[in-house]
Order: sequence, then structure tokens, then C-alpha cells
Amino acid sequence: MRHIVRAQQFTPQLIERLFHRTKQFKKTDGRGFEDTLRRRFILNLFYEPSTRTRLSFDAAARRLGMEVLSTENAREMSSAVKGESLADTISYVTGLVDVAVVRHPQEGAAEEAASRNEVSIVNGGDGTGQHPTQAFLDLFTIEEFMGRLTNITLVCVGDLARGRTVRSLVYLFAKYPGNSIIFVSPPEYRIGEDIKEYLTRHNVPFSETSNLSETLEYGDVFYCTRPQLERPNPYGHVICDERMTEIRVEFTMRLVHVERMKPTAIILHPLPRTFELHPEIDSNPRAKWFPQAHNGLWTRMSILEYVCVG
Ligand code: CP
Repeated sequence: MRHIVRAQQFTPQLIERLFHRTKQFKKTDGRGFEDTLRRRFILNLFYEPSTRTRLSFDAAARRLGMEVLSTENAREMSSAVKGESLADTISYVTGLVDVAVVRHPQEGAAEEAASRNEVSIVNGGDGTGQHPTQAFLDLFTIEEFMGRLTNITLVCVGDLARGRTVRSLVYLFAKYPGNSIIFVSPPEYRIGEDIKEYLTRHNVPFSETSNLSETLEYGDVFYCTRPQLERPNPYGHVICDERMTEIRVEFTMRLVHVERMKPTAIILHPLPRTFELHPEIDSNPRAKWFPQAHNGLWTRMSILEYVCVG
């Protein structure tokens, strides 16, 4: 039984194979694959809000011929309200579906569900832990626009303390030679020690700064993120309104920033965005966050096919 719970589990060989399949799906607009997973069932089990992850898994599954069950507000509308554990829910749905995409506020929830090995689990985001299918579509987008996955300087910007998409992307990005990372965040939102230790262990050069301006000429890929205000700050910081106003000013990407970037640089964001990408840069050719989000459909088709049939 196959599960996708952590970005580390993708090998470069698996990534290459799934990218090849993703390109086939994208090139054909998904036509001709309607029977690929016919008579199989997917459950979107979402204990936290989502637009892109849930809808793209839903659309990807239907394009492969799957039947879709969905609890889009499982925290309030499933028997979790009555005290049912995720483990018991998973044991129950084993009899109903082939794959469960789980989004849950608790880090490690998807991994725990997968450890039961009763139904294939795809981690749709677990608290501040990981979001591996987002990282997979991010990596696909980087290759699509950069034409390579090596010798790239990735600049991760924003709330790096609680951003599960950044964490997962770093694990994938570190697999390719010649890459380096610059982490840019307010001190209150700095990247976790576990990620820095991982990069050190794998000899991936990285640096940290809270000055966005000093990174602009160096980055090939700028990966911006929003403050995850719905989660507590892991370092215990309470950010007052005045400090948040400063952060907004310092960490809003505007034309004045973008015009200093390399002409070949691209700007990504997992979305949803708040203040960090000013609408004045939406039409800049470096703005790639909507093509990135649209790649979620094609990449998730290849992930579902992999999980269901290998
Ligand atoms: N990027 C992402 O996970 O978006 P949603 O929260 O809308 O699914």
C-alpha cells in the first residue's frame, strides 16, 4: 500500500517518473484518461479549510474516473464533533474508499493515519508539519519555468516558522545538486532548527536574513508565504498591531522589489495570499503563482495514479 505523507519520501527517480506523467496529463488537457482509476473511490477528509488542495484533488480524481466522497469541514460536520478519533474514522472509511486525502491541524496526523496501513493516505497538510503534494507541484512549476532543478538559488520569504509548504519544498529542493537557499523572514517567523540541521547534514548551503531587499539580485525562485495567523507562534512571540504593521511594510513584495530581480527570476506562492504580494506585481512576467496553482490539478492526477496503481 502506498502513502504520501512526507516530502522526503520522493526520490529524484520517482519525481522524474511522476513529472513525465504529469506532463502527459497537462499536454492532453487530461483527455483520454477517464478510465484510468474507474470504480475507485477517494475521500477528501478535511479538518481545516482549503480551496486549492481539496478542489484540485477532487478534479484530478474525476478526470481519472474516480468517485469522490468529501467532508470539507470534518472538524464540525463529521463525528469528530462527537469525539471520534482520526484513527477510528480511518478504520471506518477503509471499507469505503481506496485513498483518503487528509488535512488536519495536528502535525503528524497523516503519518499516524498511514501507519495503520488500512487505506492509502495522502497528506493534504498537517498543521505546521508538511504539505508534500504542494511541494511536488511547486517543484514541477520550478522545472517548468526554469528548465532545470539544479544550480538554483531559492529565496523563501515570509512566515517560515509555521509554513508547512516551505518546509516540504526545502526537503525536495535539497535533493538536487548546486542548489542553495536564502531564508528571509522577520525574526519572529524564522525557519525551524530542524530544517537548518537537515540542510547542514545534506551539505546544502543556506543563509538567513530579515532584509528582503538584500536578496533581490541573487534569487532565481522567490517563494513567498503569508503569516499563518490561525496558528500559535512556535517561539511564543505575541505580535502586537504595531509590529504587524512593520512586518507588512517590510515583507510586501512590490514593483520596486521585483524590478531589481533577475529577468529570469520567478515568484511563487502556495496561496492564499494576504498582503505579501501586492496586486501591482500581478501582471509582471515573473509572477507565476496562478500557473503554479493550476499545476495542482495535473500533479495530483499523477500522485493519485501512483498511489492507486504504482
Ligand atoms: N496551497 C494550499 O494548500 O491552498 P489551500 O489551503 O487553499 O488548499
